[in-house]
Amino acid sequence: MSQTQTLDGQLAVVILAAGQGTRMKSSLPKVLHGIGGRPLVGHVLDTARALSPHRILVVVRHERDRVADAVRDAAPEVTVVDQDEIPGTGRAVEVAVEQLAGFEGDVLVLSGDVPLVEPALLAELLAVHRASAAAATLLSAVVGDPNGYGRVIRDDQGLLERIVEQKDASADEAAVQEINAGIYVFAAAPLRERLARLDAANAQGERYLTDVVGLLRRDRLTVGAVVAPDAEDVLGVNDRVQLSEAARRLNARIVRRWQLDGVTVLDPATTWIDATATLAPDVTLLPGTHILRATTVASGATIGPDVTLTDCEVGEDATVTHAVATLAVFGPRSNVGPYASIRPGTYLGEGGKIGTFVETKNATIGEGSKVPHLSYVGDAVLGRHVNLGAGAITANYDDLAKHRTEIGDEVHTGSHNVFVAPVRIGDGAKTGAGAIVRKDVPAGALALSVAPQRNVEGWVEKNRPGTGAASVAARARSAQEVPDGIEEQNG
Ligand code: UD1
Ligand code: CA
Repeated sequence: MSQTQTLDGQLAVVILAAGQGTRMKSSLPKVLHGIGGRPLVGHVLDTARALSPHRILVVVRHERDRVADAVRDAAPEVTVVDQDEIPGTGRAVEVAVEQLAGFEGDVLVLSGDVPLVEPALLAELLAVHRASAAAATLLSAVVGDPNGYGRVIRDDQGLLERIVEQKDASADEAAVQEINAGIYVFAAAPLRERLARLDAANAQGERYLTDVVGLLRRDRLTVGAVVAPDAEDVLGVNDRVQLSEAARRLNARIVRRWQLDGVTVLDPATTWIDATATLAPDVTLLPGTHILRATTVASGATIGPDVTLTDCEVGEDATVTHAVATLAVFGPRSNVGPYASIRPGTYLGEGGKIGTFVETKNATIGEGSKVPHLSYVGDAVLGRHVNLGAGAITANYDDLAKHRTEIGDEVHTGSHNVFVAPVRIGDGAKTGAGAIVRKDVPAGALALSVAPQRNVEGWVEKNRPGTGAASVAARARSAQEVPDGIEEQNG
């Protein structure tokens, strides 16, 4: 929400988030289950804020501290209201409205478990409500399978009469396909009065907010409904099946938005982008890619197939293939993967490479430097234009503490080196294959730690007589014998 936007002084939003969410069968409160990188209630808070109400109240009870903390994290300005032991959505709204003494505007009620409804639809609901001077206007939807929702009951003239919950519905009522989305605008004064009159004479023994609609109608006040054009937008999340449906629906929206903003997404069905991630035009996302949390990807970068980036920053024209990375920065034109595990604190400089079967952690790899194959680089700093040979290992942990490996500019190391940290390798130095580098290497030096090779001629024929190896070795050695008796040099 922009700071300059003026607040709607006649609008208060109440978000219901006190329920347990029994059908989730979870130790995590339902409204804290995440889709698109945010808890359900976070999406609802975002939507509420987009309407610029003068106040937002969130009603909590089940796991109240966890829910309240998440709510304040997402939106510090909201008022958290505690529901008492009296159950039901009606009671939840009542305790919230008690905080709005003297307020005579409109109360928009949102459910913490209906995450996909968009601000534009709510703005329309509000506009219809205000234009008709209604006491209440609810959002409904016509669905193929109304199971689990309250049904919207209309009279002979098609006017809204009341809402009946599934558990209280007759067979005829249950067959109605227009459902209550759980989202309503009420004029504050008539709402207050009806809330006070609610009873719990129903199948669930709860004070239903939905009964307010029937009470208002019985008192001949205007009650209207806006039918959502797309029923999927008002999907309520009550179980984990609906949670995945909501996640997919939200993701489809996010992917489409980035596509329209110039991002190529080859396979929207297998590409997952959190609501919190940012992509530039001309990014290409290949199948199986997950762009999570605060990840940003600059233009021209190609990500995927099969990449998960969590809180990463990817530079222009970089490529990341078959990799998992968390809290990492990849410079412009750098290359990552295939098959790389990039752990927090990895910085890869411009044009650098983290290649195949490489793991990094807390590692700065300078501009143009390469770790191409089969390596572990942790707690290390590599300068510019370094090439680590295949199989390099920074032995950073001595059983007690982690130590650093520092490698200067233009260092090229042999294959299969172990750098026993703490250790420093000076600029321009080189190491031999198989070196175990325990001591610092001065700039420009060649470090060798492997004993010179010694060949024991004829060992196989002598010690493994009669084996296949012995017979091919004998054949090879006789073919090598030169007629004039001069032996070839060992190469
Ligand atoms: C509710 C509606 C139903 C509608 C559906 C839409 C009622 C009685 N029923 O049913 O008509 O079709 O939403 O999704 O309102 N909550 C509280 N305090 C409580 C109980 C619930 O804050 O005491 C909160 C929950 O955390 C949730 C929301 O209210 O965010 C809805 O509660 P839930 O139990 O999911 O109601 P539904 O059975 O889905
Ligand atoms: Ca619900």
